[in-house]
Amino acid sequence: MATFDDLQVRRPELAKSYLALIDAQPGRPLAMFAPRRVGKTYFLDHDLAPAAAKHHLLPVYADLWNYKANPLEAINHALEEALDDINVPKSRAGRLGKTPIRKIGLIGASVDLGDAPARRALPTAPQLRLDALVVRLASAAQKPVLLMLDEVQTLGDAEGGDSTIAALRAVLHKRRDILKSVFTGSSQEGLARMLSTAGAPMYQFAQLLDFPALGDEYLELLARHFSSIHPAKSLALEDLRRLYVRIGHKPGLLKDIVKGMSAEGATDIDVGVKQFLTTQATIWNALLQPLDSFDRTVLVMIARGLPPLGRETLDAITALHAGKTATVSKVRAAIDRLLRHNLVNKVANGPVVVDDPLLAEHLRAPQTLAS
Ligand SMILES: Nc1ncnc2c1ncn2[C@@H]1O[C@H](COP(=O)(O)OP(=O)(O)OP(=O)(O)O)[C@@H](O)[C@H]1O
Ligand SMILES: [Mg+2]
Repeated sequence: MATFDDLQVRRPELAKSYLALIDAQPGRPLAMFAPRRVGKTYFLDHDLAPAAAKHHLLPVYADLWNYKANPLEAINHALEEALDDINVPKSRAGRLGKTPIRKIGLIGASVDLGDAPARRALPTAPQLRLDALVVRLASAAQKPVLLMLDEVQTLGDAEGGDSTIAALRAVLHKRRDILKSVFTGSSQEGLARMLSTAGAPMYQFAQLLDFPALGDEYLELLARHFSSIHPAKSLALEDLRRLYVRIGHKPGLLKDIVKGMSAEGATDIDVGVKQFLTTQATIWNALLQPLDSFDRTVLVMIARGLPPLGRETLDAITALHAGKTATVSKVRAAIDRLLRHNLVNKVANGPVVVDDPLLAEHLRAPQTLAS
């Protein structure tokens, strides 16, 4: 039987419309933006990649977030993997089949196999390798490549990110007949800033799109599945929608809350959220526990949406810490610690934010500072 985790919304029409935009503008990447956990990666994986394959493109996915230190290597690695998938058949029979036979003995079975297929080595300089890989891959696949770069704003934080952006742009332009691309990012502002700090080589070059959050279809699936487990009960769509908006249109998070309610057989969304928050609070408090009260106060200021280095915020922090004056450098050091604990997030020179709206709510509650 299906579980809550099996519920999927497919978005073939959205994928098609993105591919049409890509077709209409050779060499111009699409950059789709949505906040964290809204479903960007899921869409690339479940909708865009299969639609691209049907559209005679070879989709290649690279996650830049997981390889922050060297995003260009991450892209090259993804292309190399794709090339291997085409060139190195998995079975031994396949490998032999690709190796030309040079000499066949007349008597007996003296079969001499030739060298394994070899080509000139790829350039080692990563910028040149990117270009060479694209050409080889498209030719091996006999179709254009669709390069999907997830969390592209990472380039803004990476050392040498500027030159990666420049290299990407050059290759996207030069190889526009065989290379298409889609970027995702968690912050449109972050990307705009990243591109302008990088001497704007891609600003106005990529087409920026707001990636639409999943709508009622997903809420309906959740409600229907809930009723299939609890035949006499139902979840009000209105209430689900209200909660969905409150948590920032994050389907995975909504699913977790509904799962918790289903386990209890509860149908009152407000009670469900309260219970979810109680469990979460235990986890959050454990995360906050290693912080001293100064760092915790800085975190609360960020959750309140105040600029942490602003004069008034510094005064407010000082007021909460008798005897300890908050200075810009002390608050900066605190923010670094919060970033290391993954309690806050910062995108390419952007403001520091608490990503999770429920955690932000928890932090804004008066007892957080008191505890
Ligand atoms: N179309 C969908 N159908 C069902 N569930 C979905 C769908 N899209 C997203 N989800 C749910 O939302 C979760 C988060 O999605 P995903 O990881 O794609 O978000 P994201 O925007 O890439 O997040 P991040 O910014 O953290 O990378 C998924 O694990 C899944 O549970
Ligand atoms: Mg993602």
